[in-house]
Amino acid sequence: MPNSHPTSKLWRPWTPIAQQAGAMRIVEAQGNRVRDAEGNWYLDGISGVLNASCGHGHPALIEAATRQLRQLVHYDLMVSSHDPAETLTARLAGILPGELNETCLLNSGSEATEAAIRIALQYWRNIGENRNRVITFETGYHGSTFLAQQLSGLPFTMSEWDRPFPVDHVTVPTSPRDARTEEACDALIARFSDALENGTPAAAVMVEPLLGLGGCVVLPAGFLTRLRQLCDRHGTLLVIDEVLCGFGRTGRMFGFDHDGITPDIVTMSKGISSGYVPLAAVTVTTPIKDSFRREPIAQGLRYGHTTGGHAVASAVANTVLDVMAEEKLVENAAAQGGELLAGLRKLEPNPLIADVRGLGLMVALETDGPESGEAIATATAQAGVLTRHERGVIRIAPPLPLTSEQTTEIIEAVATAADLAAAARH
Ligand SMILES: Cc1ncc(COP(=O)(O)O)c(C=O)c1O
Repeated sequence: MPNSHPTSKLWRPWTPIAQQAGAMRIVEAQGNRVRDAEGNWYLDGISGVLNASCGHGHPALIEAATRQLRQLVHYDLMVSSHDPAETLTARLAGILPGELNETCLLNSGSEATEAAIRIALQYWRNIGENRNRVITFETGYHGSTFLAQQLSGLPFTMSEWDRPFPVDHVTVPTSPRDARTEEACDALIARFSDALENGTPAAAVMVEPLLGLGGCVVLPAGFLTRLRQLCDRHGTLLVIDEVLCGFGRTGRMFGFDHDGITPDIVTMSKGISSGYVPLAAVTVTTPIKDSFRREPIAQGLRYGHTTGGHAVASAVANTVLDVMAEEKLVENAAAQGGELLAGLRKLEPNPLIADVRGLGLMVALETDGPESGEAIATATAQAGVLTRHERGVIRIAPPLPLTSEQTTEIIEAVATAADLAAAARH
């Protein structure tokens, strides 16, 4: 069976037009492994689309989806309600801190961003202030819808269209390698402080707990605590994007748990349903939702999608929470993530490797450039482990039930690949 689709009519997203054909054909996935059309099995070092956090083909998740498909596929949440969505939103209120109690369910991370920004901007109108400026990291990423795309300054994500509202980007003052130091924390906070002070009062600051697409940049410990204080001083809403980090990826339930803060708005997707069915959520504090009682034309939230909060997706997400607790996946992500990082750090003397960083089971190898990144990622796949290479950075984010033997398997595959790539260079 050919391993690519030479006559493919599929327009693959985020892929240069010249590279549309020739993609690897994945035909099956079980547990932490996937199989291609030629029958090769790989350790899935990237969890599907960074989302299959419970692993593939999990019997409990398949059973939850099947049971819900038989009972009720979905029903209109604009005129009715259903138990899977009610249960999920109640459980999210239970695991999120403080007054983060009110959840709108959507389909994708970008939609969660869209909803979060619309809610934040409308909130200020509801309470009689006309704030509309948003501050983000220049190398942050919050999605690809028209609105979500405005929030990133990453060149490869941008389109040349005018912004519907002002966005100010804060740059990381150091190299990614030096970004996790205490001095970097001071410099980062100084830049966010400048951004808040210079310009009209900001409606919201939106950040990821770790800059995922922007190079897997681990932010300094205490940064979110100080950013929370800064936002409080300016009365600005703090929106945390947990689309990638949420649901155990970083070794805590949420990325912001490392700093113990309570955001005003949280966006979630990917791990929420372990990628089995599309689902996303935006949770806001009770006062933010309550402000919509004063919303000028009394239409409530002017945002939503036909399949948002789909009953099957919500039923799966409820079971994801059960699986995570039963299999202690958050704890396992912390333990295996620690082993993986320590093992990969031993490769730092390799001249092609510039930095090894990570948090929980979100680990990255920064190489000396895209050529080395591509060579190491390709050789790692040939050694049986799939990773994701982008612009010189190789991201490794395996499913959270990773075993200690599989952690070793990843380290050995990457080590072999890095040695081969270094030898080929000389
Ligand atoms: C941090 C973050 N936010 C938002 C998104 C957008 O999510 P989606 O691709 O589901 O629209 C992503 C996607 O990778 C992400 O990593």
